[in-house]
Amino acid sequence: MSDREIGWGILATGKIARTFARDLALVPGARLAAVGSRSMGSARAFAAEHGDADTRAHGTYEDLVTDPAVEVVYVATPHSFHLDNARAAFEAGKHVLCEKPVALATADAAEMVRLAGEHDRFLMEAMWMACHPVVRELRAELASGRFGAPHQVQAELGFRVDAGPESRMLDPALGASALLDMGIYPLTFAHLMLGPAEELTATAALSDRGIDLDIAIAGRYPGGALAALNASMTSWSSRRAAIATDLGRIDVGPEFHHPAWAVFTPYEPGAGPQPDRAVTLTGTEPVIGQGYGNEIAEVNRCLREGLRESPLVPHAQTLAILGQMDDLRRQVGVTFPDA
Ligand SMILES: NC(=O)c1ccc[n+]([C@@H]2O[C@H](COP(=O)([O-])OP(=O)(O)OC[C@H]3O[C@@H](n4cnc5c(N)ncnc54)[C@H](OP(=O)(O)O)[C@@H]3O)[C@@H](O)[C@H]2O)c1
Repeated sequence: MSDREIGWGILATGKIARTFARDLALVPGARLAAVGSRSMGSARAFAAEHGDADTRAHGTYEDLVTDPAVEVVYVATPHSFHLDNARAAFEAGKHVLCEKPVALATADAAEMVRLAGEHDRFLMEAMWMACHPVVRELRAELASGRFGAPHQVQAELGFRVDAGPESRMLDPALGASALLDMGIYPLTFAHLMLGPAEELTATAALSDRGIDLDIAIAGRYPGGALAALNASMTSWSSRRAAIATDLGRIDVGPEFHHPAWAVFTPYEPGAGPQPDRAVTLTGTEPVIGQGYGNEIAEVNRCLREGLRESPLVPHAQTLAILGQMDDLRRQVGVTFPDA
C-alpha cells in the first residue's frame, strides 16, 4: 500500500493549473484522474493535453469534486474562490492542496482548516517553495549552525504585470495584491529560515483601484535577526535571497523560491570573502520538473501515511503568514471587498 497510486483532480484550467499538470505527469504514483472547469471545452482540452485515455473532464467544479476517481483536489482558482472550492471538496470527502494564499484573510484560512478537521481530510497550502529540495537542505543546514547565526535576510520577488483590468492580478475582487501574490514568498522564506516574525512594518505603492503594486517590508525575527522583503508587480526584481550570518553570507538563486543553488561563502575578518571555502547546496534529492513535482510527491507521501497536514507546510505556518499579511495590508491601507 505504501506506493499506491493517488488520483488527482485539478480544479480550474488556468496558468498555474497547466504548469502543475506538467509536473504531475513526472511524479511516480500520481495520476491526473480528472479536471474540472467552468467550461466543458476547457476541461476537455486540458484532459487531452495533460491526462491519459481515462482522465475525465468535467464542466463544473461540483462534478469534479464528486468524481469517485479523485482522492485529492488541487484548487487553482483565484484566491478569492479558494475557500468555497475547498469547502466543496471537503464536503465531497476529498483531500485538498490549495494554491497560495489559501484565502484573502486569516479568518477564511482558519475556516478552511476547521473544515478539513471537521471532515477529517488532508489540507495543505501549495507553498511549493517549502517542499523544494534546495530550500529544505538550506533550512536544515542553517538550523544546524554550520553557517553561523543569521542576522539579516533579504528576499525579493517581482515582475512587471502587463494584464487587463479584469485580470486576477489587478482586480481587487479577485484578491489582486503584490503582497498576496508575490510577497507571500519572501515572507515565507524569512519564516522558514528565521522563525515566526515578531514585528513587521510595510510601506506600499497602491494602484488607483487600491491594491498594492509594490511593497517593501521590514521585519524583526527571533534572536534579533532582521529582514528586508520586497514584492513588485511593476518592475523586474532580482528574485534572489541572501542571508548574512556572523560567519559569512548565503546567496540563494537564481530564483530563491525555487532555487538551483544556495552558496555559503565564509568571510574572514580583515581578509573578506573566502570563495575557495564556499559551500554549494543543490538539494539532497532531485528536483521534479520545475519543483511543483516535489510538492505533489509530498502530498502523495502524506496521503499514503494517513497524515492530515504536512510537516513541510503545517497549518500553523499558513495561518501565521496570513496573519502577517492581514496586518501588513492594514498598515498600507489595502482592503478586499469580502475580507
Ligand atoms: N504556486 C505558484 O507558483 C503559483 C503561480 C501562479 C499562481 N498561483 C496561484 O494560483 C491561483 C491561480 O492563479 P493563475 O495564475 O493560474 O490564474 P489564472 O490563469 O487566471 O487562472 C485561474 C483559473 O481559475 C478559474 N476561475 C474560476 N472563477 C474565475 C473567475 N471569476 N475569474 C477568473 N478565473 C476564474 C478559471 O478556470 P476555469 O475557466 O477552468 O474554470 C481560471 O482559468 C492564484 O491563487 C495564484 O496565487 C500560484
